[in-house]
Amino acid sequence: MTKGPMLMVPGPTPVDPSILEAMGRAPLHFTSREFVRILLETRDGLRAVMQTEGDVIILAGSGTMGLESAIANVLGSGDRALVVSHGKWGERLVTVCRCYGVDVTLLSAEPGEVVPLGSIESALKNGRYKAVLVTHVETSTGVRAPVREIGLLAREHGCLYLVDGVSSTGAEVEPMDEWGIDVLMAASQKALGCPPGLTMLGISPRAVRVRKERASISNHYGDWLEMLRVLQNPTVETHVTHPVNAICALHQGVRLLLEDGLDRRIADHRRRATAMRDGLRAMGFQPLAREEIAANTVTVGLYPPGVEDRAFRAALERNGVLVASTGGSLAGKGVRLGHMGYITDLDIVSCLSVFERVLEGMGQGDILGKGVAAAEKALVR
Ligand SMILES: Cc1ncc(COP(=O)(O)O)c(C=O)c1O
Repeated sequence: MTKGPMLMVPGPTPVDPSILEAMGRAPLHFTSREFVRILLETRDGLRAVMQTEGDVIILAGSGTMGLESAIANVLGSGDRALVVSHGKWGERLVTVCRCYGVDVTLLSAEPGEVVPLGSIESALKNGRYKAVLVTHVETSTGVRAPVREIGLLAREHGCLYLVDGVSSTGAEVEPMDEWGIDVLMAASQKALGCPPGLTMLGISPRAVRVRKERASISNHYGDWLEMLRVLQNPTVETHVTHPVNAICALHQGVRLLLEDGLDRRIADHRRRATAMRDGLRAMGFQPLAREEIAANTVTVGLYPPGVEDRAFRAALERNGVLVASTGGSLAGKGVRLGHMGYITDLDIVSCLSVFERVLEGMGQGDILGKGVAAAEKALVR
C-alpha cells in the first residue's frame, strides 16, 4: 500500500488497515449465511452506535442518498417541513426536500452561528409542520447544532424529527431514542472511519409507521419497506444487490468502534478537536465556531492576516497534508479540517507541526513549536 497524503479533510478519512483488509476479501454472495451474519451483526452494531432500539438500514450510496431515502419515505408533495440550517449541508436538506415536493420553511444562521431555539419555537408555534430537519455537525462551518433541545421542541409540536448525522454519528453524543430522533442519517466515510460508499439510517417505530401510512413513495431504491422486508429474512429476500464488500468493511469499522467503546470514542474525538482548536489559536488562526458549539469532528480555522489561501494549502500539500477549503461567504478565508475516524493524536500533532513550518516559511513570524505545544497540552488533559 502506498502512503498518500495525510487526509485532514472532513471525509473521506484515513481507514484502519483491518477495515481495508475486510473490504478486500473475495465478494460473498448476498444471501449466503456468512454474509447475512455480517449484515445483521453490522445492523446490530449500528443500533448500539446510534443508541436505538429501532431499525437500522444500510444502503449503497453516499450521505446524500441517506438524506434522500429519509425524506422520500416520510415526506411528500405538499407536506410542510421546517429546516434548521447552519450552512451548506442544511441547504442540501432543503434541496432534497424540494425535489420531493415538500413545502419547506428555512431558518438559517450566520456562518459559525446556530439558529436560536426561540426562533425555532416561534416558527413551530406559527406553522403546522410534519417534520423538523437539522444537520448535527455542519461540515461547512464546524458548528454542532443543539440536537437534543431542537428535538424537545419538535416533539412538543408533534413533528417528526430528522437529523443528518453524516459528520457526527460515532463521534458526538447523539442518543437517538433518548433525544427523540425519528430518522438519523449517517455515512461510512466520516467518523465511522470506513471507505465511502454506504449510508446508514436509524429509523424509529414512529417513522416506520408514517412510511407505512403512505401508499407509495417516489423512490424505490431507498424504500425502507423493501429493506425492512429483506432484513426480516435476508437469506431469501432480496431488493437490490447488497454492497457486500463495503458492508464487510463497515462490519469491521463498527466492531473496532464498539471494542473501543462509544463513550471513549466520543471523548477522544472531543479531546483531539480541542487540541486542534488550541493549536490553531496559538498560531494566530481563529476557529470559526465558539467553544460551546464547536464540533468534535470538523474545525474551520480562519487565517491570520497575511496568509493567502491557495498558496497556504498548496504548501501544506507539498508537505504531505491535505486540508479542505472553505466555501460560500467564507471562501478563501480559512481551512476546513477533519479530525474524525482514524485520525490519531499523532496526526493532530504532525498536522500542526506542518502548519507551523509552512507559516514560518511564509514569514508569519516566530511560530515554530507554538501550535504543537498548545495541542499537546490539550491532548494530555
Ligand atoms: C453533514 C453532511 N451531510 C451530508 C453530506 C453529504 O454526504 P455525501 O457527500 O457523502 O453525499 C455531507 C458531506 O460531506 C455532510 O458533511
